[in-house]
Amino acid sequence: MALTLVTGGTGHLGRDIVHRLVRDGRRVRVFARSPGARSDVEWAIGDLATGIGLREALRDVDTVINAATCSPIARRGGIRPIDFFRSPSAVDVEGTEQLVSLSGEAEVRHLLHVSIVGLDEATLPYARVKLAGERLVRASALSWSVIRAMPFYYLLDRLLSGLAWLPVWPVPTTPFNPVDTSDVADHVVTCAFDGQRGVRAEIGGPEDLDLVAFARQYQDARRPPRKILPISLSKAKAYGMGLVVSQGVRGRLSWADWLHRHYPETRRAA
Ligand SMILES: NC(=O)c1ccc[n+]([C@@H]2O[C@H](COP(=O)([O-])OP(=O)(O)OC[C@H]3O[C@@H](n4cnc5c(N)ncnc54)[C@H](OP(=O)(O)O)[C@@H]3O)[C@@H](O)[C@H]2O)c1
Repeated sequence: MALTLVTGGTGHLGRDIVHRLVRDGRRVRVFARSPGARSDVEWAIGDLATGIGLREALRDVDTVINAATCSPIARRGGIRPIDFFRSPSAVDVEGTEQLVSLSGEAEVRHLLHVSIVGLDEATLPYARVKLAGERLVRASALSWSVIRAMPFYYLLDRLLSGLAWLPVWPVPTTPFNPVDTSDVADHVVTCAFDGQRGVRAEIGGPEDLDLVAFARQYQDARRPPRKILPISLSKAKAYGMGLVVSQGVRGRLSWADWLHRHYPETRRAA
């Protein structure tokens, strides 16, 4: 049976992708720094930042889904001053370069790379690192697909919980449409096996809402209300921060339903 390798298969999106591949009866190998709990997949242990284990992981692989990343902001759930100056590239650029090169040697038939909506205008160093990784895939001689996704709900949740200590929350009024990883994983798995290639439809969530509305729903579901100070950003500033509305495919799960699912003890967000 054709073998699919998932990098980042222990991450938020990667876990949802692996779940769908296994559910669909596919043979799955997960490339990870340490093995996870699933016994229904093969584990290939290695490190994208060094390339260790990658060649072995790619043996006999038909399709690669690259959902690995190193995002300090997502990991810690907050932005620090350092994030405006640099972001590590070892996984997303050098790691992607190795993955592309070794996938070519292994005669992989399809490499699907997960990326982010709005990278061309975004200015944070992490976005520039992601754009460099995406360009490597697009410039390669491989048979490739790139899917750009809007920010995930789990990240929005982490960023908003990082504001909890503030009595007043400064929140941009810019509309955007974050999305759940379950919806992105559905789209990724469909695109991995539909025979098409290239830049695929980007994916965002079902609602284009003012960020203030997302913050209010969050407060309603999770915390005693804080005062929200709406901040109006110029288009260029908003795009620079990745605050855009996606085109293309829409996910189904709303932010309110995501909050309700993850924090069932609190009343349903308005
Ligand atoms: N988060 C968002 O809002 C968002 C929005 C749009 C697109 N994306 C893209 O979607 C993809 C998945 O994002 P995510 O938020 O699900 O990521 P995540 O939860 O942070 O997971 C990252 C994954 O990459 C793995 N990884 C990190 N460093 C590695 C290394 N040196 N070698 C091998 N694996 C390594 C992690 O493994 P460990 O378990 O060992 O750490 C983990 O499985 C990424 O391409 C990201 O850019 C994310």
